[in-house]
Amino acid sequence: MSYLSIRDLDLNGKRVFIRVDFNVPLQKNDRGDMEISSDKRIKASLSTIRYALDHGAGVILASHLGRPKGKPNPEMSLKPAANRLAELLGRPVKMAPDCIGPEVEVLLPAPGEVLLLENLRFHAEEEKNDPEFARKLAALCDVYVNDAFGSAHRAHASTEGMIRFVPKAAAGLLMEQELKYLGMATTHPERPCVAILGGAKVSDKIEVIENLGKVVDRLLIGGAMAYTFLKAQGLPTGRSLVEEDKVDLAKKLLAELGAKLLLPVDHVVVSEIAAGAAYEIVEQIPEGKIGVDIGPKTIEQYAQVIAGAKTVIWNGPMGIFEKPPFDKGTVALAKAVAESGAVSVVGGGDSEKAIKAAGVTGKISHVSTGGGASLEFLAGIQLPGVAALEIH
Ligand code: 3PG
Repeated sequence: MSYLSIRDLDLNGKRVFIRVDFNVPLQKNDRGDMEISSDKRIKASLSTIRYALDHGAGVILASHLGRPKGKPNPEMSLKPAANRLAELLGRPVKMAPDCIGPEVEVLLPAPGEVLLLENLRFHAEEEKNDPEFARKLAALCDVYVNDAFGSAHRAHASTEGMIRFVPKAAAGLLMEQELKYLGMATTHPERPCVAILGGAKVSDKIEVIENLGKVVDRLLIGGAMAYTFLKAQGLPTGRSLVEEDKVDLAKKLLAELGAKLLLPVDHVVVSEIAAGAAYEIVEQIPEGKIGVDIGPKTIEQYAQVIAGAKTVIWNGPMGIFEKPPFDKGTVALAKAVAESGAVSVVGGGDSEKAIKAAGVTGKISHVSTGGGASLEFLAGIQLPGVAALEIH
């Protein structure tokens, strides 16, 4: 894959359009104002923004937030992101009332200034990848940088379409970092390479299992999707979540992957799913019971495999992580990954929360900022936002 880096561009005196992913979670505070509940994605973009400013550029930032369906919606304004960014950068960030048009043109930044455009998805043309809209966005700048890895699986005007209208396009520092770690882990990992895949449904992860199955040495399965595999092996699953229509597919994957694929050997089961519910640990799930986490023997077995790994890829929790104590398996594996010393690449919001809960965030080599984007990358799907950068 070859694309330019922001480091290859001459930014001095130029207006650079940086597509960031400021699609951050918001909640209403007591005064009824929208407040950011996690600024992780804003922080992740800082190095690229600072790099552009330090190299003499005027910076235009653009992002979507939420799914406003092509219409302005004050609850999805990027204004809170502008305020937070200004605090983090320690310099003013101007907020534009829109993302194109004369009101934006009068605000365009001089070198050293930062302008955040209003939510791109207030215009339906963004998601439609409308060429005229893309051309208008491109007309705002001299050079284009895509740092929005989290949106790279979307072929939208700001992530894909406008690239053909700008003289130069490059990847930002965050985008480069994401592609480096995810690319290394899925194409030329240091071995042994272990993937941990969890989550509720096999159907969400089929392509990931198939693609990673070709690369990794071991695939550890957890979460409710393990029960569909157990069913495919003819084992009892009680009232656990099973995708009946995916049992044949699970049989096929078991046959294809053979000893590479490990399934839980014991389970935490309950009668009703609720935080703090009474539970048992079993090797075979009894009738009427629901599996909610991997058991201690599985934790030990998986932790041993992880301890021997040189590369670990992780996506998805091992149990109903949000309802303690059914977060034990996920948290234990987060610790095992951190202690392994392996190059570790984590994607997906729940695995990231587990890493935080286990207090090991700093020990993970790379925590992806992309949910859907990292999943598509792990599935071997070419991301349109990345493919478009290769044109130049
Ligand atoms: C994300 O949070 O995964 C990205 O920002 C993309 O958002 P979307 O799923 O609304 O396109």
